[in-house]
This record gives sequence, C-alpha cells and structure tokens, in this order.
Amino acid sequence: MKWAGGKGQLLQQLLARMPDSFGSYFEPFVGGGALFFGLSSLGMLKETYLTDVNDPLIETYKVVRDNVDEVIRHLKTHRNEEDYYYHVRASTPRKPETRAARLIYLNKTCFNGLYRTNLQGQYNVPFGHYKKPNFCNEENLRAASAALQGAQIECFEYSDAVSRAAEGDFVYFDPPYQPLTKTSSFTTYSRNGFKEEDQVRLSETFRDLASRGVHVMLSNSDAPLIRKLYKDFKPERVYANRAINSKGDKRGKISELVVRSYR
Ligand SMILES: C[S@@+](CC[C@H](N)C(=O)[O-])C[C@H]1O[C@@H](n2cnc3c(N)ncnc32)[C@H](O)[C@@H]1O
Repeated sequence: MKWAGGKGQLLQQLLARMPDSFGSYFEPFVGGGALFFGLSSLGMLKETYLTDVNDPLIETYKVVRDNVDEVIRHLKTHRNEEDYYYHVRASTPRKPETRAARLIYLNKTCFNGLYRTNLQGQYNVPFGHYKKPNFCNEENLRAASAALQGAQIECFEYSDAVSRAAEGDFVYFDPPYQPLTKTSSFTTYSRNGFKEEDQVRLSETFRDLASRGVHVMLSNSDAPLIRKLYKDFKPERVYANRAINSKGDKRGKISELVVRSYR
C-alpha cells in the first residue's frame, strides 16, 4: 500500500539502527509496513505482531495473508477509469476478499495514495488520473502474502498491542507525526487524529517498555515537542525526501527524528 508517512524513504536509516538481536517484532502503527517488509525480506523476523487502528487496512493484510489468489482475481476485474473508480468507491462489498481488492484498487488509483474518510467513515479521496497505475501487481501481492505468513495481524490501539511485549523483544513505533506548524495537516490519519496529548502518552509507553528491557525505536517529525519528550534517549536526526507543502507538489529533504532505547 502507498501510505501517508510511509517509511520507504527512511528504510536504510532504520535498518542501520536495529538492535543486534531481538525476540518478537511489534509494529503497532503498521500503515504500509515499510520496515516490516524490509526486515522480512532480510529474513530477520521470527514472531511478528502487526497492528493498526485502521480496520479496513488490517482486514486487507489478513486477506492478503490468507487468500491472495481471491484478492488477485477480484483486482483483475477492476479498471482505471474515472466513472468506474467512483462506482467502486461508493460500493460496500460484503465479502472480505472483495473489500480487500477494493481498498488496494482505490489506494493505487486515487489521488496521491491517500487514505481519508469523511465523518461517516466513507472513503472520500478523488480519482488520481494516473496513466497506468499497477493496481494488480501479482508478483508483489504474492511476495507480500509470503511475508505475512505467520504474522499476527489485529486491529488494536498501540497501547493494547504492546502490552505483551517482553524483555528482549523489539517494538517499532511510527505514529502519525507531530505537526511542525499549526496549519500543517500531517495528522489527518484517522477520524480522531493523533493529538499532542497522544504524543505525550506514547512517550510514556516508550519509557515503560524501555524500563522493562524491550528494545524500542520510534520515528517522528523533528518537532520541539518530540525532542523534549525523548530528550533522555538522545533523538538522532535523519533525512527524508518528503512533500514539503500541503499540496504535495513541492518536495525536499527534511529532517526527522529517530529515537532508540538502546545503542
Ligand atoms: C505514519 S503512519 C505509519 C506508516 C508506516 N510506518 C509505513 O511505512 O507506511 C501511522 C499509522 O498509525 C495508525 N494509527 C493512528 N492512531 C493510532 C493508534 N492510536 N493506535 C494504533 N495505530 C494508530 C494510522 O492508522 C496509520 O496507519
């Protein structure tokens, strides 16, 4: 999936900062799962817990894990045409496989690969007008399905997701970013958003896990609040090529933070 705040850009920098060894892997804000898929392709994972509060996203991962053939079969019936896109967008399929194919199709053909819903929870991103979006990449879907075999995938709040993390396990937190400016719309991930008090609460969870001997890594924006919350852990600056205005038509290198409970 294309995902707002996807970590493809930072993957090498995150991989270079992994703990030497770890037990189970937890990714409680999985989104597009860039680090999970990276670690999986390197054969670095044993027991894995992938969770997120986005229910349709979680369902899609489960269906791709368990029934990728059906997802591919449904995806092949879709077309990259504007009227057809809006017809699919308005549909509410009853079968999980059809719903998963719909979400992948919308993600690949909508404007900028955004996931956004209105107050009724209905997907409301406009058609993307891409020439040839590859919304049915069979090889990629089968590779994703192989990577997801054996992973535990659930729709959970991050705090519930990490309650069973134990000493020696590894948790990677990639929450919705703290906005750099008051007008920035970085936090429109879910209907509730992720507010300043959520960032504070997350930093408490980070600290609690670290004190229990769990290896914890977190990425976030280079915002004063984040520097302050994690100052004891000495946040490191990394650089990502990101859209630097809200319309996404201007890109540049911006600094972000990686925080680790270990070295
Ligand atoms: C920055 S994105 C993660 C991007 C991901 N690392 C990637 O590479 O695509 C943040 C994710 O956190 C999820 N989220 C927001 N609030 C949450 C919460 N309270 N608990 C768990 N997940 C949450 C959103 O649904 C979104 O998928």
